[in-house]
Amino acid sequence: MTPVTLQYGNVLEPQLGPDRGPDPSALEAGGDLCRRFEAAMAELHRLREAGELGFLDLPDDQALARQTGELADSFGQWFEAVVVVGIGGSGMGARAIAEALLGPFWNERSDEERDHFPRLYFLENADPDTTRELLDRLDLRRTLFNVVSKSGGTAETLAQYLIIEERLRSELGEEGVRGHLLFTTDPNAGALRELAGEREVPALPVPPNVGGRFSVLSPVGLLPAAVVGVDLDRLLEGARSMRERCLVPSLRENPAGLLATLLHAADVDRGQRVHVFMPYSDRLQGLALWFQQLWGESLGKRAPADGSPGAEAGTRDDGGVGPTPVAALGAVDQHSLLQLLMDGPRDKVVTFVRVRSRDEPLPIPRSHPHRPMLSRLGGHSLAELLDTELRATAEALRRGGRPSLTLEMDRLDAHGMGELFMLWQVAAILAGALYGVNPLDQPGVELGKRLTLGLLDPGGEERDAPPPDDPQWSV
Ligand code: PA5
Repeated sequence: MTPVTLQYGNVLEPQLGPDRGPDPSALEAGGDLCRRFEAAMAELHRLREAGELGFLDLPDDQALARQTGELADSFGQWFEAVVVVGIGGSGMGARAIAEALLGPFWNERSDEERDHFPRLYFLENADPDTTRELLDRLDLRRTLFNVVSKSGGTAETLAQYLIIEERLRSELGEEGVRGHLLFTTDPNAGALRELAGEREVPALPVPPNVGGRFSVLSPVGLLPAAVVGVDLDRLLEGARSMRERCLVPSLRENPAGLLATLLHAADVDRGQRVHVFMPYSDRLQGLALWFQQLWGESLGKRAPADGSPGAEAGTRDDGGVGPTPVAALGAVDQHSLLQLLMDGPRDKVVTFVRVRSRDEPLPIPRSHPHRPMLSRLGGHSLAELLDTELRATAEALRRGGRPSLTLEMDRLDAHGMGELFMLWQVAAILAGALYGVNPLDQPGVELGKRLTLGLLDPGGEERDAPPPDDPQWSV
């Protein structure tokens, strides 16, 4: 099996033209980028030794994977639908796995076509339209709700839980509440853990040193995957093999090191601060959104203090650092974003994802011989068309001196997804070190949470609240 590969020639000067990208010598021992990478690797090892990078050990945790798989098996046969209730890192990874590996229209398939695995839904946003419409459509007697929150304190998820609990109680009685819930949360703390203990709701643990956006290979992603028959061993094996590649001390052999170092350099050395992630596969749209969260929440931080490793390189005029990640989709965004990528400001770098072979490439019929616009497409396939468009777009960007990277995978399978998840998580840690920020926290999200609680519960502990709207500024 061919591992995921990273093509990075199109960010370097020889391909892009004079002064459009780093000289390859910068990647060699003693080169500028190599030295930055080595400092970032040292920081990664420091964090690992301090026990902060729990995600790196998840692929080895056979006991946790087995516990998750067994619970999924015991539930799977009873339920016709499973709803994952979770937001941010507690929903996006599982959604990325499901979209990639189940393929489109899973929920529209018959029981036989799904091999009697359940339908799978995601409730992420606290949007009443989606939540009500979904709950009205489900047969609650045959539905399992997997409520996922690492902290057990996220307002959106807990509010949805309360609505679901009430529905279950009124339709199925008190016993029904318990039998239709499964929590995934911190092993020791938080409201969900307390409830699990009091009400005897089964609850899978998220290891304490695994944060939300780094939790896809914990029960957060594994339970929903297992419940619909994804091969957890292959997923974890892919992650394990990529981890080994990403811990190699030589930059030229380390795909996460190259991603992090080249994307960071694109930002801080060339002002290419918009990092576009553009798979050419509908099934990888969820992965693009997962990347967007991982990259944005891990790296968008206040500027590091003077004297810290990333202080000089990443500092912005306004005091913040971090690239702006953008989730795109090929070829759809060729008809939307590409004009901007080709001719707009030179502040972007694109990472394409290419899937080399498809189970069913879908041949395009040869017909209409007298209409060249139609006949030239015949004899090819949709897969070939999409792949050709990717290569043509990368080449067009290159000719304009605009950088891109390409991740290539043989086929979309559990092993490859495990590789991609591990690759980007390690890259996020290394990029955090390069920017000189803590990639594991998200202090900027806290104020919004406090203000929300202040508005919802003015008399409560959280008294912070926005002032009322000023009518002079409204029209
Ligand atoms: O990456 C993160 O830490 C966040 O995006 C969280 O996943 C998100 O806020 C949800 O948090 P929780 O899992 O505690 O409900």
